Amino acid sequence: MDQIGIGAIGCGGIAGGHLPAYRELEGIETVAVCDIDEQAARGRAEEFDVPAVYSDWRELLADERVDAVSVLLPHHLHRDVAVAAAEAGKHVLTEKPMATSLGETDDMIAAAEAAGVVLMVGQILRFRPANIKARELIRDGAIGEVRNILRRRLGKSGEFRSKWARKPEEAGGWVLYGFGAHEVDMILWLSDGEAETVYAQARVNNQYWNDYDEITVQMSLVDGPIATYQHSLNTPFGAWECMVIGTEDAMLVDSGQIRFADYVVEAPLDSPASWRAQVGEFARAIREGDEPEASGWNVRKTMAALEAAKLSIRDGVAIDASAL
Ligand SMILES: NC(=O)c1ccc[n+]([C@@H]2O[C@H](COP(=O)([O-])OP(=O)(O)OC[C@H]3O[C@@H](n4cnc5c(N)ncnc54)[C@H](O)[C@@H]3O)[C@@H](O)[C@H]2O)c1
Repeated sequence: MDQIGIGAIGCGGIAGGHLPAYRELEGIETVAVCDIDEQAARGRAEEFDVPAVYSDWRELLADERVDAVSVLLPHHLHRDVAVAAAEAGKHVLTEKPMATSLGETDDMIAAAEAAGVVLMVGQILRFRPANIKARELIRDGAIGEVRNILRRRLGKSGEFRSKWARKPEEAGGWVLYGFGAHEVDMILWLSDGEAETVYAQARVNNQYWNDYDEITVQMSLVDGPIATYQHSLNTPFGAWECMVIGTEDAMLVDSGQIRFADYVVEAPLDSPASWRAQVGEFARAIREGDEPEASGWNVRKTMAALEAAKLSIRDGVAIDASAL
């Protein structure tokens, strides 16, 4: 395929990450956009010089110029659109969270496999320099064998522009699926791990979110390490970091820097470059018929851990994620 035609479904905030990245890359072009809000779709079409504008994603999927889609929609829509796209023979890059349940995740994987199309999830943190470097160092044994991972994301979250974020039936759990899809994925990706037992607790603090906004997830991973993810939307002091503790040393990873032993490794965040790397990986996998980084299959591990955390919060017991 010389030129890959992209259809962007959803023209809200995150379209501002995908569309500029597609524009920058050779051999890939956004040929159609879609949003139920016609003004939003027309706005993005003008901004990025896109010829076709739709308000119904089914019409976009019927457009023969579209080879692949970016699914940039509220969480509860990811499954249906990704499955229909695969059935229409289109390759799929869906934003995180892949879906809002493991059942939906499996439907998406099955549809992509049946159609022989690429299914990738927008786990953008896997394309950030500090995380890439940290993973390389961990794999090279810089801290020995990983035994414990402590990850936390704390901040004060004010109003959010989109109403669906405050509807649990659409967001699927604003913190657990909206943010946790990044954070749990990083825990598993940095350590090449997979969740075994998961115990999670959650509280509603600020009524604004109509949902849990204080969450702690404890996991034991296959082959031994333990991991904890803590999240609050209600702290006046921010923190976003990951301490990976090994048998030889420990490593602190934040957005632009890694610290371990006597080393400080600078890996500054370059957000546009990360977006380009992500869509570039999608294009590479399409061209080479290869499994991409953050393939649907691979991200299933994250979705299983999130499913287990959701069940644990609901039932107040530890869940065996490896059986899901
Ligand atoms: N990777 C990241 O760091 C990151 C950051 C923000 C958001 N996201 C993800 O991106 C996705 C979209 O989030 P957002 O912030 O762009 O949300 P948003 O609310 O800004 O945009 C969503 C768009 O989808 C449109 N839409 C809703 N229903 C539709 C339908 N049936 N058909 C067509 N269009 C429809 C809305 O009109 C809106 O324009 C979510 O999965 C979110 O978690 C990822």
